Parts: sequence; C-alpha cells; structure tokens
Amino acid sequence: MCGIVGYVGKNHGVDTILEALSRLEYRGYDSAGVAVLHDGQIQVRKKAGKLQGLVDHVHKHPLIGTIGIGHTRWATHGLPNETNAHPHSDSTGKLTIVHNGIIENYAELKEKLISKGHEFKSQTDTEVIVHLIEEHAKRMPLEQAFRLTLKEIRGSYAVCLLSADEPDRIFGARNGSPLIVGIGKGESFFASDVPAVLGRTRRVWYLNDGEVVELRASGPKITTLDGKLLKRQPTTIKWDLTAARKEGYAHFMLKEIHEQPTAIEQTLFNRLKPETGQITFNRSTRAFLDALKPQEKIIIIACGTAYHAGLVGEYMLEEFANIPVDVDLASEFRYRGAMLDKNTTVIAITQSGETADTLAGIRLAKKQGAKIFSICNVMGSSIARESDAVLYTHAGPEIAVASTKAYTSQVTALTLLTLYLAKKRKRFAPARWKQLVRDFAALPNVIKKALEKAPDVKSVAAKYAGCRNFYYLGRRYNFPSALEGALKLKEICPLIHAEGYAAGEMKHGPISLIRMGWPVVFIATKSPVYEKVISNIEEVRARRGDCIVIASEGDSHIKRYADSLITVPETEEIFSPIVSAIPLQLFAYYVAVANKCDVDQPPNLAKSVTVE
Ligand code: G6P
Repeated sequence: MCGIVGYVGKNHGVDTILEALSRLEYRGYDSAGVAVLHDGQIQVRKKAGKLQGLVDHVHKHPLIGTIGIGHTRWATHGLPNETNAHPHSDSTGKLTIVHNGIIENYAELKEKLISKGHEFKSQTDTEVIVHLIEEHAKRMPLEQAFRLTLKEIRGSYAVCLLSADEPDRIFGARNGSPLIVGIGKGESFFASDVPAVLGRTRRVWYLNDGEVVELRASGPKITTLDGKLLKRQPTTIKWDLTAARKEGYAHFMLKEIHEQPTAIEQTLFNRLKPETGQITFNRSTRAFLDALKPQEKIIIIACGTAYHAGLVGEYMLEEFANIPVDVDLASEFRYRGAMLDKNTTVIAITQSGETADTLAGIRLAKKQGAKIFSICNVMGSSIARESDAVLYTHAGPEIAVASTKAYTSQVTALTLLTLYLAKKRKRFAPARWKQLVRDFAALPNVIKKALEKAPDVKSVAAKYAGCRNFYYLGRRYNFPSALEGALKLKEICPLIHAEGYAAGEMKHGPISLIRMGWPVVFIATKSPVYEKVISNIEEVRARRGDCIVIASEGDSHIKRYADSLITVPETEEIFSPIVSAIPLQLFAYYVAVANKCDVDQPPNLAKSVTVE
C-alpha cells in the first residue's frame, strides 16, 4: 500500500527511483509519480495506472537530476487519477512531497490554509502537508518548518520532502507507516521496504515512529522530532534480489506456492530437532514462553490470511496445549474493549510486520499490561520491534499480494509453538510425541508431494473457471482452510464471489443458494470429523450442487461423492491445514490465470495494509 522512494546520489536519479518503485509494485497501487530536482527546479511526472505508464511517459518527457522522490499511490482520499497521484507540490512548486498514510485532521488544516490563500489541486489528505510546510517556511528554516508540520498533523505517515532550494538533501519522517533508509556508497535512499534498495545496498536503518532523517549522498542523519541526534547501527540484509525475482515462473504467486517446502524447512530450521526429539527456540523466545503461567490466556490478533492462520492456531493451542485462546481480527480487537491483564499474551501474526490494525492492536494490548509475542516474516519490522518476543517465520520475501508461503509458514510457526508448550505441560506420552515430531519433520516432503498434483488441480480449475460463485466448506482445523481457500480465489479473481463457511453452518443459510452446478469446494481429508463432512457433501449433492472435494490420498470411499476430486497426502489432522492449503492456492491461481486476471497485483488490493 503506497510505495515511497527517495534518492540522493550521483546516478541518474529518475532511473534509480523508477527501478526502486518497480520493486515496491507488489505493495499494491493505482497511480505513480516522480519528482526530480535539477538546476534549482523541481520537475514532476505522474500517471494513473501501472508504473509502466509512468516509465513510458518519462521516456517521452525525460527528466535529469541526481536527487528526487517517487511514489506509487493506493487511493484513500480522492480518485486514483493523475491529479491525486503523488508527488504533491506547494503553491510555489518549490516544495514537493510523497506520503504514505492518512492525515486524520487534514480537513481542518485544509480549511485554515485555504483561509490563508492556499489553493489545493487534489482531493488528497497529503496535499495539506506540503502547504503547511510552505506556510511555516515563510517564517523559519525549512527543516524547522518540516518538524513543526509533523507535530501538527495527526494520523499516520511516512513522508519525504524535496525542496528546490536544497539540492543536497531530502527530509523524511515516519509515524505509523513504514520507512527505511538505505545507506549506499556515495548515495542514500528512503524506501517503504527493503527490496527497493537491495540492488544498491544491503545496509539499512529501520526508522521508528517520531524519527526524522536528513538524507545526503554522503550519508543519512537521524534525529528525534525535536532535533536530538540519535545513533543507529545499520542492519545488514542477508537475502538478495534473486529472492525477489520470478525465476522462470509465470507469476510470483506460483513461485511462492512452489517455495513452500523450502519456506517450511526454514521455519523449522534449528527449531525442530527430530534426531533428539526436541523443539527449541532462541534464548529470548524460550525465556518468554517458559515464563508463561498456567493460568495464561492467549489472544491472537491478525488480519487477512494471517487471521486464518490464527484460527488454525486456536484449534491447536486449545487441543494440544490446553490454553484458552481467542482469535480476533485486529481491526475489531482495537475497538471491542477486550479484557486484558498481565496474564494475557497477545500473539500478533503478520507477514509484513507493518499492518496498521495489527500494530495498533499490540500497542493497545501493551498499554493494558499484556505481553506481546509476534509471529512475523519481516525482520526489523515495526511489529517485530515492538514485541516482547518474536518467532520469525523465515519464509523469505513474499511479493504476490495473495499470501501463500507466508500463510503455511505462519501455521508451521504456530505448530512449533503449540507443540513446545504442550510438551512443557506434559501433554504427550513419549510414543505419541515421537510420532508427531517425525511427521512434523516430514512436512516439507509431504508438501512437495502435494505440489506434484498441480496438473490435476489445473484441469479441475479449467472445468470451473467460468463459474462466478463458489462456496468453500470445512470443519475443525480445515474450517480456517475453507476461509483461506475462498479468500485466495476472491483476492485474485475480482470477477468471482467466493465464500468460506464452517460446513456445519451451511444449513443456517448458504444452502438456500445451492442449485444445479453451484460449485462447492469441500476439504474432506481424514480427520475425526470426516463422516460429518461427508454428510454435508451429501446435502449439497441432494441439491445438485457440484462438489469439488479435497481428500486424502488412498481414500477410495470418497470418490462416489465427488464431482471433481483432488487428493493430498494423508497427515495428522494438526498438519492438515498446511497440506490442504496447497491445492486451494493452486486452484485459485489456475482459475485466475484462466480468467486472465492480474494474479500478482489484483486491483484495489495491497500487500501491506499500512492504513486503518
Ligand atoms: C493484506 C494482504 C494479505 C495479508 C494481510 C495481512 O490484506 O494482501 O495477504 O494477509 O494484508 O498482512 P500481514 O502483513 O499483517 O500478514
């Protein structure tokens, strides 16, 4: 959601900025723009639509300069058109900014500025920032005007400021929206995320809320909002750009689906030790988990796909570790007045570590005395930094908007956590424990086998690609799988409506729509509720619905119930959501491809939702 880039250096500024923006495309956007300073003049180019449109525009109307800012916008205030695209300039055209976030008091600020003679061109909340800086800069140096403006705006922002009178530096600041600084050789960057700068440097600073950075080619300087100098060691990024390339796959989503055996291996690495039958974590995570009291209660908060991982976590933590668990959508948790205390652990699940609602949720929980544990993929992200302990999923960068490997590695992390806590609470007989650890360690291979069925899934998808409504039904551990399967399809196929339901709830509503040929995806792998799911399949068949059944390999009984059958290797129920995720993801992918959808960047969606 909105990608920001700032650049000061010796290279061709506009090419550098456009290339960096292309690495942020995965975040989701609907327009793009760039501003470059040369000879005391700022020139701006903007375009609605894909970044390529801006690239072509810049080729026709070239820009030169070695200092500039760029932006991909995901509309919040005002239509996604060229006028509302960033950068936005002040009345004189000497100041230009890019912004990610929402300025909550923009309407009142705008009114005041209009009364002072400012004219606004766009419908954005962002434009007030640059006019406010302009207003203050009439009476004070630019840096001071920038800081004062930041104190007056309310809401979330990552913002970069370029001034025609400041050819050597850009200012940037953050509050609630992600911003990193890349420290290169003779060049420096601002960016919303690491991939934007990875081609040029691996040394980055992750900024905290309330920090202001002055970016120069010779290096950045970091201060508090009040100007106090801060010291920070750069973090060296270990992964490289090849991890963020398609490597022969048609889409990032397909690549990431196929990366799941490795992603899960990485989540398990050094933690699950089948040779000694142990699960272990780093010192701080262990200390956190070992300090949990018997009366502990857990609240899991998350959004989107991560929320579905949380629902799986609820089943396993309650069943195996005997800990009471609530799972909340972070956006609801913030406003529901949950009762928290020092015996509550809030587990935040998040791929990006930047989701605005999840971040606000942990801050609220912290204030009320709860402890925060996060399951996160992005090292150094805001949520990771603000948690008392973090279990990183190590799934590698996930670029496609629809989450796949991040989901299965989140469920893997939750399984590690569950089994660790369950073992501590002496919930297993030794033979049972041995078997679980063995099956858990075999999971990456099981996933590989499930992936081998991709051609079968593709032909089933071809059969249903023309349908426009789908139900997904499952029970227990595979109820969240049904929600996740439906979410995958609706995320990447904007033409299709898909609804996930607990199979037992079907009779309380959804069944009224079932008629001839209505496709219903069932997750009917072997489990204690297998027979119950079969009954639900019967009910759909009785209404001549079309049953697409995901079943365990070797289950010959189920064939007679399935109009289309997809099999997956049989596993313990606790591991089954990870395994059944594979055909569900592939099914959504192939239906989307057959419908010629923009798989990796579906319209209106963003990878990282950094506004409320
Ligand atoms: C967006 C993404 C989803 C993701 C959700 C939560 O909606 O498109 O794929 O599940 O945000 O993101 P997080 O980074 O917190 O896991």
